[in-house]
Amino acid sequence: MSISRATAFRGSLKTPTTQVHPRKWRREFPILADSTYLISHSMGAMPRGAYDSLQQYGREWATRGIQAWDEWVPRLRETADLIGSLFGAPPGSVAMHQNVSTLLAIVISAIVQPGGRRKVVTTDLNFPSLHYNWLMQERLGLRLHVVKSPDGIEIPTDAMVSAVDGETLAVLVDHGIFRSGYLQDVGAIARACREKGAHCIVDAYQTVGCVPMDVKEWGVDFLIGGSHKWLCGGPGAAYLYARPDLIPSLEPRICGWFSHKRPFAFEMTMDFADDAMRFATGTPNIPGIMAARAGIEIVSQVGVPRIRERSVRLTSRLIELALEDGLTVRSPRDDRYRSGVVCLDFPGADAAEKELLRKKIQVDYRPNCGLRVSPHFYTEEDELFSILPEIRKIRKRR
Ligand SMILES: Cc1ncc(COP(=O)(O)O)c(C=O)c1O
Repeated sequence: MSISRATAFRGSLKTPTTQVHPRKWRREFPILADSTYLISHSMGAMPRGAYDSLQQYGREWATRGIQAWDEWVPRLRETADLIGSLFGAPPGSVAMHQNVSTLLAIVISAIVQPGGRRKVVTTDLNFPSLHYNWLMQERLGLRLHVVKSPDGIEIPTDAMVSAVDGETLAVLVDHGIFRSGYLQDVGAIARACREKGAHCIVDAYQTVGCVPMDVKEWGVDFLIGGSHKWLCGGPGAAYLYARPDLIPSLEPRICGWFSHKRPFAFEMTMDFADDAMRFATGTPNIPGIMAARAGIEIVSQVGVPRIRERSVRLTSRLIELALEDGLTVRSPRDDRYRSGVVCLDFPGADAAEKELLRKKIQVDYRPNCGLRVSPHFYTEEDELFSILPEIRKIRKRR
């Protein structure tokens, strides 16, 4: 099968003309002053601007009381649109919520119809939280088709594509696999979904802010993700993109007054908002959303194509060096199929996580994966590669 340039990269291809200079950004992130921060795939560093936003939130709440909603509601919409601009979503097509598990539940409540399709395609490498949501729907008659990874790293695109048939309600595609960093071919899977009339839902939590992408280019129906990884936004600011032409036909059973066209009219009949706000349910998490703003703005300024260019360069060098040290690399070697994280395994990797954390080298360990290590735009090259001598020392002591 020939691989087109767009699908080969598994993200959107806009080649950056200039490079990222980490030094320019490091002072914005206090934790970088005294720790080796290689964990942005899990929890991005906090920008100092988040302090200001949280103080602003406290000030507005304290001094404006109920009137603070006049600022907070427009800010909620602005933040949703700003996040959407990172993956090509038009204004009004993104709603925010506290976490993606809830957002998936809302999507499920909108697409599962009495007497409708029942088959859902997922993989055994998907993030478990969302998988639980599907599993609980089996009580309502949903049938899961779980595509198995042959090696714990990759999911064959052909297996995903051929699993989609005329009975398929939805496919949940984890764009970047959390356990390996493998990038799924969303474009090819979304095409199969369109051909068979299935919904394509992308979980891009592991890639937004690190891998360029465009929901329109992919032609997906939904994209979900959150802010506390590559967007450096902290917890509590997840988002859902819904394809604008699909929105009017969707009436989520999980809803609330913020899903209403006129929430402050307190009407007793439902008239859904015309845009993605219909997925917003009840009172939004204003502090989480305000805290997330600074990180999202910085990532937008740095530019995701530039972040990607540097990430690929550094992670491919990290893989070369790790292999020279005899470590097992549980991430794709081919740059095109790898997100921003590299998984390094060796006997005792779980215990090594704690030793590294004691030395303020921030990485994490996941079973069947090893240590997950990643650079972001604020990571110096030496800082990234300094993990290897540390791992060498730990292994020698065993
Ligand atoms: C791929 C993926 N999806 C979802 C989540 C989180 O889901 P939630 O926002 O429901 O906690 C994570 C990690 O935190 C993840 O890696």
